[in-house]
Amino acid sequence: MIVSSQILLKKAQEDHYAVGAFNTSDLEITKGIVAAAEEMNSPIILQTSEGEIKHAGMEIFFDSMKIFAEKSKAQINLNLDHGKSFEMCKWAVDNGYNSVMIDGSKMSLDENIELTKQVVDYAHERSVVVEGEIGLVPTPSKDENVRILKADPIECQKFIEKTGVDFLAVGIGNVHGENKGNPVLDFDRLKKIFQVVNIPLVLHGGSGISSEDIKKAISMGICKINVNTELRLAFAKALREILEDEDVIKPYDIMEPIDDVIKEVVRKKIEIFGSKNKI
Ligand code: G3H
Ligand code: ZN
Repeated sequence: MIVSSQILLKKAQEDHYAVGAFNTSDLEITKGIVAAAEEMNSPIILQTSEGEIKHAGMEIFFDSMKIFAEKSKAQINLNLDHGKSFEMCKWAVDNGYNSVMIDGSKMSLDENIELTKQVVDYAHERSVVVEGEIGLVPTPSKDENVRILKADPIECQKFIEKTGVDFLAVGIGNVHGENKGNPVLDFDRLKKIFQVVNIPLVLHGGSGISSEDIKKAISMGICKINVNTELRLAFAKALREILEDEDVIKPYDIMEPIDDVIKEVVRKKIEIFGSKNKI
């Protein structure tokens, strides 16, 4: 069933666990994520980035995700991840996502506030919740000059006050993608942010972070964790292995085993995030 992340994250914040936000761009990945949530009796956030939904087929793919979520016995929120413009967020709100992220983290603070506020005003009027970002969580494969810009607690406070955003993604040394090395999370900074911020906090770049660090981050206020790269790696590895056998040619013989591979990755994350049996 579809449940707003407003409800999912409030409960996670109160009970000290995190809801996993898993990216999808195709049917098998969606099936694997949803199956894991059902098996673990866990709430989840099913999300697409701009690039993913554009690849997957915009309305057509979103509608299929929505049907999966509606028919599932798990609690699922549908989120636009890393929306880069007002227009993209507006499209997502108009087409039925129940939360959107507007990522103005590469802008100046004032520009980020202005864009995020514009999205919040539009989304809130239509009962859709919004995630903003402070600090920069780089993607080494995309960003030429990789720089980590950590969130400043005072700026976080100002950003929330001026925009009315519902959730805040914070840069605390976390990094997106593969080959990220061993990101060192700045827990002192997270603690300071948590002391001044009273809305749910989000950790991006959730792949490859040790379970210990994940649990520590959750104990310090993180209640949504985004995971994408570990799903992509598992997908690509499984596909390569399956295609080694040249006799396997039926699309469903090639693709079906991937559901289970994705399900396993998501199950493990749910275990670490502590959201098992939280429905
Ligand atoms: O928004 C999506 C994520 O932050 C995922 O990060 O690809 O490092 O898991 P990741
Ligand atoms: Zn992200």
